[in-house]
Amino acid sequence: MTTPKPIPYLDLKAQVAPIRHDIDAAIADVVDNTAFILGDRLERFEKHFAAFCGAPHAIGVDSGTQALHLVLRALGIGAGDEVITVPNTFIATVEAIVYTGATPVFVDVDPVTWMMDPEKLERAITRRTKAIMPVHLFGHLAPMDEIRAVAGDLPIIEDSCQAHGALYKGKRAGTIGIASAFSFYPGKNLGGFGDGGATVTADERIDAVLRSLRHHGQGTKNLHDSVGYTGRLDTLQAVILDTKLPHLEGWNARRREVAGWYRSRLEGRYRMPEPLPGTTPVHHIFPIQSPDPEGLIARLREQGISCGRHYPVPCHRQPALAGFVPVDASFPVSEDLCEHIVSLPMYAEMTKEMVDRVCDHLL
Ligand SMILES: Cc1ncc(COP(=O)(O)O)c(C=O)c1O
Repeated sequence: MTTPKPIPYLDLKAQVAPIRHDIDAAIADVVDNTAFILGDRLERFEKHFAAFCGAPHAIGVDSGTQALHLVLRALGIGAGDEVITVPNTFIATVEAIVYTGATPVFVDVDPVTWMMDPEKLERAITRRTKAIMPVHLFGHLAPMDEIRAVAGDLPIIEDSCQAHGALYKGKRAGTIGIASAFSFYPGKNLGGFGDGGATVTADERIDAVLRSLRHHGQGTKNLHDSVGYTGRLDTLQAVILDTKLPHLEGWNARRREVAGWYRSRLEGRYRMPEPLPGTTPVHHIFPIQSPDPEGLIARLREQGISCGRHYPVPCHRQPALAGFVPVDASFPVSEDLCEHIVSLPMYAEMTKEMVDRVCDHLL
């Protein structure tokens, strides 16, 4: 009997192989010119990524976390302020708030979409609230119109780290709030060969402040207006991302096809997030709910199928954040989702046969 080929959770080798030649050439160009920090190659990628998003500015930074953090700093948010986000996200969303000295405040998510619940948001806003940070988790879209209606004049910063190219009523994720953060961590829909990120904004002031902050607060050469960071996107990463960017739409379309195959087999048997009407998700992650997530993952592992969990511990239960959350804080929807979550293999190179094999072991 032949053992079936393993199905990894993610297959970056399959993604890179067809474009390897172009990537090697782009890397060689940077090395030949020793153009490692800032410069026209980084600017070219920023221009292309901004155009892809339909925004005037994209500022390349060293991570998605930094992309969020610098926006908060540009908005002057700090000690004594509150920033509202959700508990079912990667901890980086919350870390960015904590770095500024502000207090993260959580609101629970909607049990159908798994995104920020605007009704609960309304109750969480206080006079100390200085920004709202919804997360387009899994490549799905948060309900931006409803959040805007509740937020009034408060700035909304979109965490789009998992949503490159997703559409909300015809607009790209990342162009609805005052600014938005993207991560280029290798496994993201658009990923580099290391860490990287970008902030996208239409706000001229935020653009200028971030360009300075990421470069040690330099306004003009050797004059530091503020205490900044070593926070630039490496030029090597920028050219790799620029080489990948023209493929992103096609990869996202394939992810939607893969998601459609999963849905057609698993709907009614497993709970999964419902995309909001009028949105086009990009399925960075394909999560389902299982009464026994670890058992299910172990069963699939025996068949050579790898899964993930995003994220089994909600942020308000993370030891690192204990000091920011009242001991009796409870976010029942997030807690239930996190406890039962399993992320199935998801990438543009998956075939129908691979999806069927995963589903065969789930039914
Ligand atoms: C929702 C979310 N926010 C923020 C981040 C932080 O991005 P990075 O790892 O590039 O700092 C990530 C990345 O994993 C993420 O998934």
